[in-house]
Amino acid sequence: MIELAALSFLNVIHDDLARVEALILEHPHGRHEAIHWAVELMAGSGGKRLRPALVLLSSHLCGADIDRAVFMAAAVEMLHAATLIHDDLIDGALVRRGVETLNARPHPWSPATTVLTGDYFFAYAAHLASQAINVQLMQRFSQALMTICDGEMRQMFDKDQQPTTSALAQARDEYERRIYAKTASLIAMSAEAGAVLAQPDNCVDSPSAAVFHAYGRELGIAFQIVDDVLDFTADEETLGKPVGSDLRHGLLTLPVLFFLEDRPDDPVVGRVLRGDRSEATIQEAVRLIANSPAIEQANGIARRHVQWAKQALDDLPALECSSAPYRTALLDLADFTVRRRF
Ligand code: IPE
Ligand code: IPE
Ligand code: MG
Ligand code: MG
Repeated sequence: MIELAALSFLNVIHDDLARVEALILEHPHGRHEAIHWAVELMAGSGGKRLRPALVLLSSHLCGADIDRAVFMAAAVEMLHAATLIHDDLIDGALVRRGVETLNARPHPWSPATTVLTGDYFFAYAAHLASQAINVQLMQRFSQALMTICDGEMRQMFDKDQQPTTSALAQARDEYERRIYAKTASLIAMSAEAGAVLAQPDNCVDSPSAAVFHAYGRELGIAFQIVDDVLDFTADEETLGKPVGSDLRHGLLTLPVLFFLEDRPDDPVVGRVLRGDRSEATIQEAVRLIANSPAIEQANGIARRHVQWAKQALDDLPALECSSAPYRTALLDLADFTVRRRF
């Protein structure tokens, strides 16, 4: 389970987040019991709730209607949960947030029921988003979902490719593009939501929307880089999900790209790249990379993106004093992203 004390910057929106949880659980009655069970499992299994927090913080800062913001916050968390259900099935991951994934459950659960539950979550997310009653936000929401699927497709098609030394720079560009799509696009949309909600429908974008989008994009890129580092360095129990899984799936993330830049001829990592996925080889490669300077190099890039995220907020219009705690929370959330252990 996650250490909530580490998320104390969310105290300013504690009551709103409680409303988000309650709203998710107000799920329509009369569905199949497995669907109700899955919604309750998702709501009760923790998770950092960073995406709904971003919707709520930006909504407070921009003076948006908080009742609508709560719907949007619930929608982005459901969308996130849906992507995790499908992601775990694709990755064959057996644990998430410290509990067994749907794809790990015994009969009558199966890959088919897992896909359908994920689909249901996507639909429920759209239903919640529609209740924020804002066409522009609905457009952002659907675009983010299309972009996430594009990112996951890129990842699937890029897997198992062995970059030559000269192609490493290109591999890094492709990596950044992929992590923007699969992770940062939803985080950017969540951060932008408050500004979009606060402006009248069909109006041109406010300058604040661009500021929040930039903040969320940089934060989201840093967030995924740290996730990719934690896949090498974390303790499985604290993380609540498997470690070493990216390499096991032939996925070359930033720590591996830095490692290869420095040691292109490493025999162990070379074996993994050529398709040896035996547990002994994977564990040896994970240990080598985890103890190499590549980890600090990747963390350094994440810190740089967090710095850019925080700087983006400098362009917000002058705020009323009462808004200051929400702005501070956004800055603290950005710092948390690079020091987190889960
Ligand atoms: C996990 O996201 C998926 C990634 C984009 C890396 P989180 O780390 O926000 O997952 P929860 O919601 O806290 O479980
Ligand atoms: C995030 O990437 C996946 C989604 C956007 C759904 P990861 O595959 O790294 O996420 P984890 O590590 O399984 O949480
Ligand atoms: Mg995964
Ligand atoms: Mg990961």
